[in-house]
Amino acid sequence: MTRQVRLASLAAFGAALAIGGLSCMGSDEPETTTEVGALLGDALPGTNGTQFAAARANFIATESNPDGFGPIFNEHACGNCHQNGSVGGAGQQIEQRYGTITNGTFNSLASTGGSLRQLFSIGGFNVGGLNCNSGTDNNPAAGATLFAGRLTTPTFGLGLVDSLPDSAFSTLAGREPTGIRGTPRLVPIALPNPFDSSQHVGGQRVGRFGWKANVPSLAQFAADAYLNEMGITTTHCSAGSPNTAFATENRANHAPTNALINGCPDDQKPGVDDDFAGEHNNCSGGLNQLQDDVANFLFFMAHLAPPPQVAITAGSSQDRGRTLFNSSTLMCSGCHRSDSDVFVSTSAGGIPAGIHFQPFSDFLVHDMGTAADQIGLNDGDSVASTRLMRTAPLWGLRSRNLKFHDGRTTDIATAIRDHNGGSLGQGTAAANAFNALSSSQQSDLVNYLNTL
Ligand code: HEC
Ligand code: HEC
Repeated sequence: MTRQVRLASLAAFGAALAIGGLSCMGSDEPETTTEVGALLGDALPGTNGTQFAAARANFIATESNPDGFGPIFNEHACGNCHQNGSVGGAGQQIEQRYGTITNGTFNSLASTGGSLRQLFSIGGFNVGGLNCNSGTDNNPAAGATLFAGRLTTPTFGLGLVDSLPDSAFSTLAGREPTGIRGTPRLVPIALPNPFDSSQHVGGQRVGRFGWKANVPSLAQFAADAYLNEMGITTTHCSAGSPNTAFATENRANHAPTNALINGCPDDQKPGVDDDFAGEHNNCSGGLNQLQDDVANFLFFMAHLAPPPQVAITAGSSQDRGRTLFNSSTLMCSGCHRSDSDVFVSTSAGGIPAGIHFQPFSDFLVHDMGTAADQIGLNDGDSVASTRLMRTAPLWGLRSRNLKFHDGRTTDIATAIRDHNGGSLGQGTAAANAFNALSSSQQSDLVNYLNTL
């Protein structure tokens, strides 16, 4: 599917734009209320409404076999999973990852379809008179010993996070007490955002998206999700060269690359499904652009406003909970951060600069011990690195149902207790401190989290 929405006009939004209502809410802040104008799912101020509506429509558009959908997939549209509270939100879907430990390091079992298992396949399909079948990923995969669920996360406000320079994350790490200090996770850039000149193929950027902070930008996440969730392959033009990082279909159980399935192509639309580079003469003229659907997904997510917060009355249970959250006993805010000097958007990526926001995360990875999902990013990763999880952003928590990386609970108190990852876990002290509170203090803290 293609829609002709261009991102070029975004430069116009680069002018500094401060949103007065989003005031600082640090522990030393005398103010007791916050005011946020946007509703869940609204666009950032200054966003072109027509362009946002078109991009949103693309995000919820259902893809099917003639579009190149499959051969294996998890869902038919981004919006089928991201929908809690509003389009772009968290979801109830819990995906499956698996792997094992071989000779002391992580093994994704890539040859049997790991580490992400696609739940479904297009099965039988017909191309040029050939009766074809895509096959289905094994379940469980032979040899898997590690199994982890991955809950769908929300995308509200993430354009602001995407715009932060890498230095913002090192600043946050430097402020954290050594016992709970997180690490910025540098990851390779496979698909640069054409509207951020600091990104280029082969470079690195602090990973900030996904439960493991393993994805460096919303542009890259969009192409990755299109391929891995829906089976739609894309090409792009990065600084005048074709970008084929997301152009290879996933085949059931990783049938060999470039081999045909039963003499058939991978899916009903042979070749690269959305071959933007090919359609534009292999990026002649120095073209620097994303494929249209991916550009729309990016535009939609990047322009979603942060979730609104509930105003807090001085002396209320929520107010007491906020004091606990920021206290040195619990140290919740040591990882779930809202530093008002760091969380200020820049114009990188084409969103408005100068917006202050409070994500209640450092976007750093922490050793969560046995509380982690135990899944590595690459074959050969150390066991220690399989324990690294991104501090889950708590903004919008009240609009969500399931909690924790595997969606194990609907109960906020359980999610806090489950920070206990044993002696290695950086969240263990917080869980213990929570358990040591009186039950009314525990309720105060939960009531505060329900204002975010
Ligand atoms: C089958 C359900 C499903 C579909 C379809 C899906 N997603 Fe997701 N999405 C997830 C899950 C699960 C995660 C968490 C993944 C992880 O971190 O391992 C996620 C995470 C994300 C994130 C990271 C948010 C964060 O917290 O950092 C972005 C961005 C995203 N998805 C964009 C998209 C886009 C764009 C599409 C469509 C091309 C899409 N998703 C389709 C399930 C889905
Ligand atoms: C060492 C850093 C750290 C500290 C301290 C910490 N957290 Fe977390 N928090 C995390 C990480 C990492 C996750 C994601 C865990 C997972 O799902 O694997 C998380 C997840 C959560 C969740 C679930 C969010 C979701 O999206 O499902 C809640 C709620 C939460 N934390 C609240 C708290 C509270 C309240 C405190 C203080 C008592 C606290 N945290 C202290 C790092 C921390």
